[in-house]
Amino acid sequence: MDLVRRVSMMQEIVREKAGKGRKVAFVPTMGALHDGHLSLVRRARELGDFVIVSAFVNPMQFGPNEDFDTYPRDLARDQDLCIQEGVDYLFAPSREDMYRPDHHTYVEVEGLSSLLEGATRPGHFRGVATVVLKLLNVVRPHFAVFGQKDAQQVAVIKRMVRDLNVPVELIVEPTVREDDGLALSSRNAHLDPEDRRAAPVLYRALERARALVEEEGVREAARVDAAVREVLGTEPRARIDYVAIVDPDEFVPLERVDENTLIALAAWLGETRLIDNVLVTPRRVG
Ligand code: PAF
Repeated sequence: MDLVRRVSMMQEIVREKAGKGRKVAFVPTMGALHDGHLSLVRRARELGDFVIVSAFVNPMQFGPNEDFDTYPRDLARDQDLCIQEGVDYLFAPSREDMYRPDHHTYVEVEGLSSLLEGATRPGHFRGVATVVLKLLNVVRPHFAVFGQKDAQQVAVIKRMVRDLNVPVELIVEPTVREDDGLALSSRNAHLDPEDRRAAPVLYRALERARALVEEEGVREAARVDAAVREVLGTEPRARIDYVAIVDPDEFVPLERVDENTLIALAAWLGETRLIDNVLVTPRRVG
């Protein structure tokens, strides 16, 4: 496993090693790898002849009052994990190499980027789309693997890839959870013990929604929304940012839960903002 620190070096490696029918599978990350990332890496191993993981904490996707400075970073540990998982290259460029001082080009997926996560975090998806396109241009993978936990990110990237004809196949893998249901996230490291104890309420709220729709056959989005809020309300430490019942591609709110509906939420636990979601399909009646 080689650590690659320079964009030009990564491009050279890809030029030399890819091709000749060999498929590159790519897992973009911001480092601080956890089991959720490793499940993406394992999928990439199945898909590609060689696997590239990037670890780059992308300043462009953090707002001025967000946690860019405190976002967990541990390149040595990421390196060890990549070795264990049989990754071929860990690409960890510097900020200066990724963004020149006079960088002025951005990717804006309009509409989708201003809803939900985008409403709370203005500019976030512009930063995500820009860095993902840059990474795809450097790595030129056949497959890029993302996690369903960041459902809106997945929708934004799918739209960008479609609209800009980016030659990559996107693969989306299910959310990996702790035993108590908490979705794995690098930001979980910021939770203090009390907030960590409280955090699985997000999953319990989503599971309640799933049971309502898939077991009890409820289709009214307002009822599902109320049930999710009720469960979240049982945990005084959780502050709801949003609960949304939407189409997973367009992110438009639905009045009725349909096949493949996304129930997404964001909540604060102390200073840490967590997101989670489930995809549900109503029980067929009759
Ligand atoms: O999901 C992430 O870790 C990041 O948003 C990504 C896709 C690596 C872009 O910085």
